[in-house]
Amino acid sequence: PDPERDRLLQAYDLSAKFYHFLLKNTEYGKEAMAYLRSRNFSDKMIDQFQIGFAPDRWDTLQQFLEKRSFDLAEMERGGLLSARSEGRGYVDRFRGRIIFPIANRTGKTVAFAARILGEGQPKYLNSPESRLFNKSRLLYNLHQARASIRKTRQIVLFEGYGDVISAWEAGVHNGVATMGTSLTEGHAALMKTLADEVVVAYDGDKAGQAAAMKSIPMLENVGLRVKIAVLPSGLDPDEFIGRYGGERFMDQVIHAAVSTVKFKLIYLKKGHILLEEDGKIAYVKEALEIIAALPSSTEREVYLKEIATELNLSYESLKQDCNLLRASLQ
Ligand code: UTP
Ligand code: MN
Ligand code: MN
Ligand code: MN
Ligand code: MN
Repeated sequence: PDPERDRLLQAYDLSAKFYHFLLKNTEYGKEAMAYLRSRNFSDKMIDQFQIGFAPDRWDTLQQFLEKRSFDLAEMERGGLLSARSEGRGYVDRFRGRIIFPIANRTGKTVAFAARILGEGQPKYLNSPESRLFNKSRLLYNLHQARASIRKTRQIVLFEGYGDVISAWEAGVHNGVATMGTSLTEGHAALMKTLADEVVVAYDGDKAGQAAAMKSIPMLENVGLRVKIAVLPSGLDPDEFIGRYGGERFMDQVIHAAVSTVKFKLIYLKKGHILLEEDGKIAYVKEALEIIAALPSSTEREVYLKEIATELNLSYESLKQDCNLLRASLQ
């Protein structure tokens, strides 16, 4: 029994409901609601994900918690309040921010991620790690995605909250996200207990694609099959859906997810200028290193033929170089 933990769970539960109410039903929430609408968040998703708003005031939540006889020092330890920088007492930790409640596996709210309205730093302010909340082992939306994951044995892994929510509305009900940290071995191990396959759907910018590259060995090392959903450069899944709609997202991104080898080749290609001989040769050399390591000769043939066609080279010479490389790997 851990009474402080139970009280914190209760405080997070009530606070999530309070912030959700303020967003939807009060003057305080007007601007935030307009912001969410401008980003295509529907009423249905706002309700389902219990999105809320923390007004830009010092003591809105503090008064709420005080009235309900919560111990404020305890609330500070749990990350709902902050100690005043001068003098005694507390202030609300989240002010003037959209609130995304973060639930644990059983659906209990254990933290908040709070987004600034519009531009500014930090974009997201999170609850600190606490006896309830361990970032490196928590996946956003796992409690709601579980049923679909169980059925499909597949998980779609996103970078952000907005991606999970927009994708849910588009029909992806097995989507989860890490909490601003990069993927950990703990996340990978957790996913392996629930699924056989992970579709990585990170942002289409440089950082997202580099993170997708890094995720491949982490996920494969625990025995998961991995596919990569490739976004057009610059767009994240939420932005893609906003621009092109959910149907195209399903067809052209999720169902078009590529093998890890294919993704590595795409990623590699971006680093070279293929119109120049040097760039072309360097790309082929690095691509052959990836392909030569594949145990299946059918797979090697498929990729070698693709490169041959694409770069107008003969399959024979690529195969020859590939086999030389394989011999040196033995
Ligand atoms: P992104 O920068 O891609 O943000 O970070 P986003 O999810 O697209 O956010 P919007 O659409 O602008 O609202 C991806 C994720 O990294 C974490 C959050 O989990 C975010 O969803 N992150 C990002 C933070 O924790 N803090 C930050 O300041 C920024
Ligand atoms: Mn509601
Ligand atoms: Mn990003
Ligand atoms: Mn993003
Ligand atoms: Mn986004």
